[in-house]
Amino acid sequence: MRGLPASWYLDPDRALLEDSAIFAPSWQFVGHVSDLPAPGTAVRFDCGGRSAVVLRTKAGGLQGFRNVCRHRGARLVEGDAHTGLAFCIDGRLRCPYHGWTYDEAGALVSIPAGQHFDELDADAHSLHPLHVGQWRGLVFAAFQAPRQAVEQVLDAAAGTWPDLTSMRRVIEPRATPCAADWKLTCEHTLDTAHVDVARPALKPRLFSPLVFDRGEGDALHATAAVATGALGDTWSSRMYRQLLRDRKSSPACAEYVYLWPNLLLQLAPDGLSILQILPGATGHSTLRELRYAAPDVSREMRLLRYTHQRVRRQAGAADARLLARVQQGLGMLDADATGPLATGEVGLRWFAERCRARLPAPASSTLPIGGGKRRRSTPSARA
Ligand code: FES
Repeated sequence: MRGLPASWYLDPDRALLEDSAIFAPSWQFVGHVSDLPAPGTAVRFDCGGRSAVVLRTKAGGLQGFRNVCRHRGARLVEGDAHTGLAFCIDGRLRCPYHGWTYDEAGALVSIPAGQHFDELDADAHSLHPLHVGQWRGLVFAAFQAPRQAVEQVLDAAAGTWPDLTSMRRVIEPRATPCAADWKLTCEHTLDTAHVDVARPALKPRLFSPLVFDRGEGDALHATAAVATGALGDTWSSRMYRQLLRDRKSSPACAEYVYLWPNLLLQLAPDGLSILQILPGATGHSTLRELRYAAPDVSREMRLLRYTHQRVRRQAGAADARLLARVQQGLGMLDADATGPLATGEVGLRWFAERCRARLPAPASSTLPIGGGKRRRSTPSARA
């Protein structure tokens, strides 16, 4: 099996295709149930050119809408671009542009006095609803109907995971720009061969390469043991691994679930780390990182979380440099060039299969490759 053609990481025209064929009908992580604690609280979520708002209703349920007013298209809820937190009043969404107001079911319920229209069917101007799903305390939304319920997909891969509902945020979410196409960044999280080669020289690490052991459909499960004898070690990584080994009550390993197309969940003894890779401009993506953990303010747990977070930041910086280097290298290849995927690269093969199944092969066209030089791509790249 071969990887995706180089042009798929470089072609600006593919963004629209990917948005409609991959992102719109996929489950996207929005937040944790604790991010929506009371009626009227809301979370804004942006993905590519789309924006969603998910709010807690008075009855305690969740409703999701496209974050756009049906009058003239203003964005309804701004919220914090990094945390995603937003608020509405009394479960009502009032557009900041001309004041149209929608209830928690998305119905248009009022228009400011003085605005008159020849004909206005309020029912035809409700907010566009989204598909909202929950799995063990995690909230997901989809702009179009996904193939399966999110519970079904995640149960198949992570049915043994505990309920995560009691967890809370332990750090502020971060959104970090990355100079690599979103597919390349996703593949990097699934790539196991680079860990022993590239990482020791770049950074310390906490866990060994992922071992994929189960999963079907749109989610994969993997485990990783605590790393031993890691080169490039730091105080944080040594301390974290030692603390984990000292803990008798929990297994000293991490479990992972990768949810198609762009979400990596890591469940470690000190909490749940979430990495969501969002598409950006051509050759760019954004890494959305969140961490949640069960309430435990013991000194040992605080030290465990602190050292874990320090290493994740060091690792993130090293990954960003490596990814930028690969993205630049892809620009020097022929448009239809592909590299072989090793038989043991379960995650990479799984990802490439899904991309090829959902995206049409590139039409024969000229593409900007390598410093503005234009080469012809071929439609035969699709396996
Ligand atoms: S665009 Fe929202 S009220 Fe006009």
